[in-house]
Amino acid sequence: LVAWKKSVIHTTTTLDLANQSCPIYLGTNIYAATKLLRAHIVGHQVMVVTQEKIAEWYLDSLRKALAEYQCDIIFLPEGEQYKTLLQWQKIMDYLLEKNHERATTLIALGGGVVGDITGFAAACYQRGVNYIQIPTTLIAQVDAAIGGKTGVNHASGKNMIGAFHQPQCVITDITVLDTLPQREYIAGLAEIIKYGLIADAKFFAWLEQHIAALLARDKNVLLQAIHTCIHHKVAIVKQDAHDIGIRNILNFGHTFGHALETIGSYESLLHGEAVAIGMLLAAKLSARLNWITVTDSERIEQLLCAAGLLQTLEFPPAADFLRLMRQDKKVLGGKLNLILLKTIGQAFKTSVTEQEIGLVLEKYC
Ligand code: GLY
Repeated sequence: LVAWKKSVIHTTTTLDLANQSCPIYLGTNIYAATKLLRAHIVGHQVMVVTQEKIAEWYLDSLRKALAEYQCDIIFLPEGEQYKTLLQWQKIMDYLLEKNHERATTLIALGGGVVGDITGFAAACYQRGVNYIQIPTTLIAQVDAAIGGKTGVNHASGKNMIGAFHQPQCVITDITVLDTLPQREYIAGLAEIIKYGLIADAKFFAWLEQHIAALLARDKNVLLQAIHTCIHHKVAIVKQDAHDIGIRNILNFGHTFGHALETIGSYESLLHGEAVAIGMLLAAKLSARLNWITVTDSERIEQLLCAAGLLQTLEFPPAADFLRLMRQDKKVLGGKLNLILLKTIGQAFKTSVTEQEIGLVLEKYC
């Protein structure tokens, strides 16, 4: 535990890769801690990428903490539909307009959309500059901000354009969640539950016990949950930074989820809500194929329900659903590669026939 003034770092988890080491600080009141920021800013220039709503709450303090730097601010519009090359281009233009050098540091103050675009801008500007992630949503704190995946969407699919580029550090501050709307907070719980399902049966059981406290945003329970997720994410990314093997398991529920997001043009469902439905369908499919038990698939459904997820069930017809899933994944011999569960706490990659998937979809669509 490291503390100064009102800032407290509860845990530091380091993502050590071959040529870079990225500390992930988890704490309270640390997002605008000058000491922490200074330790990770190299040059004399910073550009904060954020959104109006977040800026209202947090930008003043951050700007004060950055008083000694040339600090430029750029605002992105809100929503997954704006995770585009156009917004990325605006950051590029502004960096050039403000004469940012190679030693500049970009700071992503926001959720996954801000983090992904900022990271991609940092990956490309002058062939790669530093950036810092300050995730302000639960989903970004437990997943998107960690591991260096950056990019933008294309009309034909999510994250189709991007790069791997690790941040200098991730500053995860639970106090910034105080202003997160409950719907977005709940969407973040989906990714927390995901870690229990793919990597940690004990954590899943712990979540079953603590879901009410998490929903009530109990600070100690939240810190413990986020810390466990960071620990698992780091452990997985360390083994497979470029997502060609074990890291694929983080996509549990995502092929179903991406199809739902695409159908809604990224507008009707939040990412976490779509992933929650996707995880339910993947769990049902795992039970249908006799991997997990029906009882376990019911436990999963119950936890997702108790978390307040699965309330926005907007299913397209099964045939449309399957067509979109085909777009997201390569189809080989009528089979799709999916992440399923062997047990609660263990995920694996397998190929499943479209017919088997169709049967599960038809039951729910
Ligand atoms: N969000 C999935 C990953 O980082 O691989």
